[in-house]
Amino acid sequence: MKTISYSDGIVKILDQTILPHKIQYITCQNYEEVAKCIEVMNIRGAPAIGVAAGFGLALAAYHTTKENVDEFKKEIISAANRLRKTRPTAVNLFWAIERILNILNQPGTLRELKEKIIKEALLIAKEDYKINQAIGQHGATLIKNNFNILTHCNAGELATSGEYGTALAVIKVAAEQGKKIHVFADETRPRLQGARLTAFELQQNNIPVTVITDNMAGWVFSQGKIDCVIVGADRILKTGHVTNKIGTYSVAILAKYHDIPFYVAAPKSTFDLKTNYKDVVIEERDKREVTHIGNFQITPTNVPVINPAFDITPPELVTAIITEKGIIYPPYEENIIKIINK
Ligand code: MRU
Repeated sequence: MKTISYSDGIVKILDQTILPHKIQYITCQNYEEVAKCIEVMNIRGAPAIGVAAGFGLALAAYHTTKENVDEFKKEIISAANRLRKTRPTAVNLFWAIERILNILNQPGTLRELKEKIIKEALLIAKEDYKINQAIGQHGATLIKNNFNILTHCNAGELATSGEYGTALAVIKVAAEQGKKIHVFADETRPRLQGARLTAFELQQNNIPVTVITDNMAGWVFSQGKIDCVIVGADRILKTGHVTNKIGTYSVAILAKYHDIPFYVAAPKSTFDLKTNYKDVVIEERDKREVTHIGNFQITPTNVPVINPAFDITPPELVTAIITEKGIIYPPYEENIIKIINK
């Protein structure tokens, strides 16, 4: 199932807000439509929103009516500024936008720049697939036969541009190698990416999965039912701090307490070696995601709620980080740079 695709000035996005019950694609003809899809989470997951931002810029380039290079560059920069404002936490979005904007520094006619932008956006999507496969190959070496694996949120093909995903790539490759795996998927309130998307994706891949509500994880750990945790990431700092879906930090603490390995799987594009811990922007989403389930209000009217979409897990809780270049172990301050520059 293709999460997102681009062809001849049209972007198709699988609408993840209605999965698993409906499989429907949204057609976008301009970057504003792509930006809206990212904001309302028709498409979500760090690598996937990076690919979407790239395709948004490809649409801006393809449909431009500008006739001179300077005007064209201004138009692309303005589209990039709009796309940057969609979601603040996953660094892949900003990484993909920067990669496309770099093309504007190259010499070339308007037509050449236009073609280069579209080519680069397609390349970002294509690379994502190979990268995730490599993450899966490295990560599968950590997985033994009959493992029970806990995952949080959705770090599968739906969160990337196809087939493997990041955390789920490790599970899928281990299963392809013939290992018997069973997955516990945290439901992941409030947007339920675990219950809706991870469960759906694993079922499609014939990998046994059991959904638990987030507050059941402690009990399941205490019963000795988990052999390791694997999650994805939205931004990994040079210190090894891992920003990921809200609730990841709690799972990491549970893993540490029960002496269970806690693995993070992410591509190089998820590493942010420049930003400090205190400067990471944690997206605060609409309160309605907490006060309501679907259209049903579960809280008293006007009760205060908060809705941070991500949290940050400190490096001392992270056993290893699985990347396409290999597995990174502590001390992260030293080892992240070595692998990222490989
Ligand atoms: O809010 P979302 O659904 O975009 O958050 C997604 C996550 O937190 C994923 O775990 C993360 O992006 C890794 S995806 C390969």
